[in-house]
Amino acid sequence: MGLLSPRTDVCRFLDPFGGGGAFALEAARAGFDVVTNDLNPVAYLIQRATVEFPALLARETRSLPNSMRPGELWEHVDFWGRWVLAQAKTELPNLYSMKGALSPSYFWWSWQMDCPQCGLRFPLLKTTAALKGAKSAMVIVLMHEERGNSCSVKYVKADPKFKDCGTFDLKGAHCPRCKAITSREAVQSIGRRKELTRRLLGIIWRGASGFQVSPPDTEAQHQAEQLNSAIQTCFQEIPFGLPKETITSDSDSMRVPIYGFTDYSQLFLPRQMLAIGTIVKQTRRALHLLNSHGYPPQWRKAIGVSLAMVVGRLVERNSQLCLWQPKKTCVSSVYVRYAMPFCADFVEANILGDRSGSYGTQLWKVVQAMRALCASFAVRENKAGVQCLNGDVAQGFEGKFDLIAADPPYYDSLSYSNLSDYFYVWIRRTL
Ligand SMILES: C[S@@+](CC[C@H](N)C(=O)[O-])C[C@H]1O[C@@H](n2cnc3c(N)ncnc32)[C@H](O)[C@@H]1O
Ligand SMILES: [Zn+2]
Repeated sequence: MGLLSPRTDVCRFLDPFGGGGAFALEAARAGFDVVTNDLNPVAYLIQRATVEFPALLARETRSLPNSMRPGELWEHVDFWGRWVLAQAKTELPNLYSMKGALSPSYFWWSWQMDCPQCGLRFPLLKTTAALKGAKSAMVIVLMHEERGNSCSVKYVKADPKFKDCGTFDLKGAHCPRCKAITSREAVQSIGRRKELTRRLLGIIWRGASGFQVSPPDTEAQHQAEQLNSAIQTCFQEIPFGLPKETITSDSDSMRVPIYGFTDYSQLFLPRQMLAIGTIVKQTRRALHLLNSHGYPPQWRKAIGVSLAMVVGRLVERNSQLCLWQPKKTCVSSVYVRYAMPFCADFVEANILGDRSGSYGTQLWKVVQAMRALCASFAVRENKAGVQCLNGDVAQGFEGKFDLIAADPPYYDSLSYSNLSDYFYVWIRRTL
């Protein structure tokens, strides 16, 4: 792009399949007058956040609401994101119970099923490693009697020769007592009959000497799940209410309907639903307040789209499709190889805390990205524009272009629209 950058006149650039706007960003930074398009509304909003608004507002400042100091766009996004978080914390002071002065960082959960052969109800585990690392490695041990239907859990230090073997793999579910294997297909039909039950396995804390894991007490699971009336009240204030849109199933990317999760609301734990709903509700309030603070329309849109990106990043790390990473001690994204597979065990982050998956960390990432994007546009002399469009490429484009770069979809290899619906259901409730 640098080689092609216009030296004198402003040249016109078009990307008809813009996606996340990578080409448009480079073209705009190189001084082209840019038109970038995508049919997908999520991609369109990402392009606006990463290219259109930084290009438009990079050289402007406005007084920050809490001081007379002029602030750039990223500082305003930071201010309002922190405002959203403070309101959510005030509204939900006891969402995650403390242990003395410590607040929990993560909760490790699994789905569990009854063994068809011996009747033991056991957790489906992809891994038994709760924590990895030279000094802190801990594994979960499932304990069961010769008879009876339940198994309890404890955590022990991992033996250096520890071989990780969970109870759920490509073959299916392995009963830890009678060793019977239930095929994946059979586990899927158990899920469709709504007979997979959820179980809290452990709570992960950050202490003075690093992370620790402890089994939950009897109240902990109850506290995360018995939130129905608070959820109903919260979503009464949010357009479209609970995200009950049907999950479009296809064989490769969205496999969760095969396990019985048929609408988006079923992908979230009740506590995740309440925390995310409260963040969405407070984001809407913040965007409403921008009017009374006298922000011009473009600033309002730029802050709104940026805070919607924070919500997008938040849901990407907070659902029952997010795996625990015992080595990095963090949450993984719902995206795995351009798909969203079913997770036998999964992790819940403390959304109001300060570790990976929290609102604060996602806000920080968006703010840092905004800051870098604005800085890269602020140094440019020319004021070439950026126009983002949200239409079908088949409609054609007005005007002449000097350069067209296209990265079209490759056959049906990626289900862009199905995968991005996961984000769209939340973004449409936020903006
Ligand atoms: C390979 S991706 C582009 C990725 C982009 N270069 C980037 O860096 O993010 C193809 C894009 O084409 C979009 N697309 C698919 N069919 C379209 C259509 N008929 N009109 C416009 N965009 C379309 C998809 O939503 C997807 O974002
Ligand atoms: Zn068994």
